[in-house]
Amino acid sequence: MSLTTPAARRDLAFHLHPSTNLRLVQTEGPLVITRGEGVYVYDDEGRRYLEGMSGLWCASLGFSERRLAEAAYRQMLELPFYHAFAGKVPAVSTQLAERLIRIAPAGMGKVLFANSGSEANDTAVKLAWYVNNALGRPQKKKIIARERAYHGVTVATASLTGLAFAHTDFDLPIPRILHTDAPYYYRGARPGESEEAFSARVAESLEALIVREGPDTVAAFFAEPVMGAGGVIVPPATYFDRIQPILRKYEILFVVDEVICGFGRTGNLFGTQTFDLKPDIMTLAKALSAGYMPISANLVSSALYEILLAQSDKLGIFGHGYTYSSHPVPAAVALEALKIYEERDIVSQVRRAAPRMQAGLRSYADHPLIGDARGIGLIGAVEVVRDKATKQSFDPKAGVAAFLVRRAQHHGVILRNMPGDVVAFCPPLIVSESEMDEMFAGFAKALDDTWAMVKEKGLA
Ligand SMILES: Cc1ncc(COP(=O)(O)O)c(C=O)c1O
Repeated sequence: MSLTTPAARRDLAFHLHPSTNLRLVQTEGPLVITRGEGVYVYDDEGRRYLEGMSGLWCASLGFSERRLAEAAYRQMLELPFYHAFAGKVPAVSTQLAERLIRIAPAGMGKVLFANSGSEANDTAVKLAWYVNNALGRPQKKKIIARERAYHGVTVATASLTGLAFAHTDFDLPIPRILHTDAPYYYRGARPGESEEAFSARVAESLEALIVREGPDTVAAFFAEPVMGAGGVIVPPATYFDRIQPILRKYEILFVVDEVICGFGRTGNLFGTQTFDLKPDIMTLAKALSAGYMPISANLVSSALYEILLAQSDKLGIFGHGYTYSSHPVPAAVALEALKIYEERDIVSQVRRAAPRMQAGLRSYADHPLIGDARGIGLIGAVEVVRDKATKQSFDPKAGVAAFLVRRAQHHGVILRNMPGDVVAFCPPLIVSESEMDEMFAGFAKALDDTWAMVKEKGLA
């Protein structure tokens, strides 16, 4: 971080940072990244950082995969833009659609492309509304997401997101969006409650909400298989087994947000497989292109597609899509990323790496500052607490996890702190064992620094 390099000065003068404490960036300066290599990125003063977050949970193949760059270049030369409105389509987008359906869980029939995770989830909200109008159920429109969910920041998806920062002063959530409990055992369980009993209770709470609202008013339920930005919350084993029958009972569409979990992260190609989910719609983004190009997708079940087809017959058009839906350049990059995942058997690679990752995280569970260490596959988190026994958090104003993450960065490792003093880990899927050890070594130094700071300031 710097205030004085030319790039930093330009940034401070002209750039409005997304999802940033705007004052802090003015006082501490931005971290200007100029290049990447493998799991590392370099700042404008030549310092190297191990990217323990794959950027924003997306750079699954690291930061220097030439095949993706070459795929983009080739496509740019051949057909730099075309669209899929009114029955036209770039050839490469048809290849990507086919490949996605071939690797998707059974039941998915068609692919609708967009540019970001938010757009894909926003599209899923619109599809849920549209389908219920098509079915003559105009009152069945409410959408249920979960507290601590992160589904994006458009008007509809920020409403689905169950985190205060996405709502406060943005006049959100919009009407017809509801929130139910997160499967957050560490904080949500009652004393002595088993994971099984906890899952049963949160499922009952979802059913009670549906019944209270009226099942004929509820259109869809959105869930990430593992909640990411809400704190890397891995659901208890039986949670989704309890939830899915309720959705089926009340004819509520299940939208599975695979934006983080998709493409290997949890040790299967999709989180849907890890938790045996039966989605009506799956949303994909991020690792779909290894983060190299903006692209997202809605995989829509064959049954839902039939409804869209009938409605298009009636209205003369399926009236949704973006200029850059099915853009050929991100499609070419995504297609290449999927080839690489298959050739290198990325799922096996994640399964090989996962034990070290998860053992690394859990090795901090005894530290006085760590209340919980959790994760699955190559995603995980530690939760920083003031008092392990009572799970009491630090005063958010003390910024303890933010300090920890800053110290990790000082020691050459990029991690991310999230609401509730959770520190997330989500390294590129290509991370080697020695790189994982390096990531944890940097974290351990940062934890020592944080412990010293907490003691010095008398915070604990
Ligand atoms: C699970 C999940 N869904 C949706 C989104 C939104 O994606 P985007 O930032 O591409 O709009 C994110 C972004 O982090 C996410 O983690």
